[in-house]
Amino acid sequence: MRRLFWILGAILAVAFVLAQLHRPSFDLSPVAASAGFDAQMHPDSQISNMLHQSCYNCHSAQGEIPWYGHVWPTSKLLQKDVRRGRARLDFSNWANLSPEMSAIRLRDACRMMQESKMPLWYYRPMHPGSTPKPEDTNAFCLWAQSQRLDQTAAQLQTARQ
Ligand code: HEC
Repeated sequence: MRRLFWILGAILAVAFVLAQLHRPSFDLSPVAASAGFDAQMHPDSQISNMLHQSCYNCHSAQGEIPWYGHVWPTSKLLQKDVRRGRARLDFSNWANLSPEMSAIRLRDACRMMQESKMPLWYYRPMHPGSTPKPEDTNAFCLWAQSQRLDQTAAQLQTARQ
């Protein structure tokens, strides 16, 4: 019985080590900074810093992969979050958004923060300080709203011409 226990343990240990050979690719290839959110939208530093701190790990190519991001199985989970997160909102690739899409992304981001849905709940305990402060969320939402108003004004302008 003891022997079986040891053999099973050894098999599990080998399986764990073999699983590490599977390296997830995070596709964090550098994207031109000029295409990024900061360069395209010029948010002030309060907003920019908050987004970098709270959102960029999953929503950009500038994410920092923590050590457990290189260890299976957490690596797999993390990779999935980054892939799904960037499919919805990618701060590294703002240049390819139409003005309408940009406005929609900003509105959604504001809503997710106001409803405390982002950052994801399980991310927060591991990243103290990642939850945006209410005043930062408010600053972001006000700014996002002003961007939308600017855009509507521009559209009216072109419609009138
Ligand atoms: C731990 C990774 C992680 C962090 C950090 C994170 N997100 Fe997300 N976010 C995701 C994932 C994963 C999805 C996709 C969820 C889905 O597909 O259901 C997502 C989706 C979104 C969406 C799209 C929601 C929708 O319903 O379409 C918005 C907007 C968003 N996040 C905003 C933010 C903002 C703003 C921050 C920072 C305050 C943030 N996220 C931080 C992982 C993250």
